[in-house]
Amino acid sequence: MDNIQVLEFVRSRVTQARFEHSKRVADMAVRLAKAHGFSEENAYLAGILHDICREYPGEKLLELAEQYQITVDEYERVWPIGLHGKVAAEELRTWGLDEEVLEAIRYHVSGYPGMGSLARILYLADKIEEGRSYPGVEELRLLALKDLDGALSDAIDHSLLYLIRRKLPIHPNTLACRNELLLKNVLPKGIK
Ligand SMILES: [Fe+2]
Ligand SMILES: [Fe+2]
Repeated sequence: MDNIQVLEFVRSRVTQARFEHSKRVADMAVRLAKAHGFSEENAYLAGILHDICREYPGEKLLELAEQYQITVDEYERVWPIGLHGKVAAEELRTWGLDEEVLEAIRYHVSGYPGMGSLARILYLADKIEEGRSYPGVEELRLLALKDLDGALSDAIDHSLLYLIRRKLPIHPNTLACRNELLLKNVLPKGIK
């Protein structure tokens, strides 16, 4: 499939608004990949394809998860939409994409400790694409070009605050991902 065909495929799978979001995520992912020296082509593919299962109803995602033998955790059981990344990665398995593209798509919803570079880029690009507007997003976009992990950690904090304010559960993988980033990059300098 060439890029035009990929674009048409995504357009056929999601609403117009989600399609526009997917294009903006792909643009941002490419910008971040370029800034940090990673594959721009894979960044584009991960960005454009990340939400192809986002419009599936929860029931269908649960059915597909069973079919693909995806282990559904207690968080996904009550919020099956959270499975849209894992199901998409399985649907795309036959496309011959690089494993890092599938990994990025698989973990873009909650994050995961040990995420590779492209997975970190996609998680962040999803949160800071040009259509997002929330206090601090401009600063986050600038930081993301210089310090990927720092911006990722701040983006996760933003998501956690959103969940806490709404009294929603926090996936343990998101916390584990945040802890990993802090232990690796911040805490070596010591807690003051
Ligand atoms: Fe998503
Ligand atoms: Fe998204």
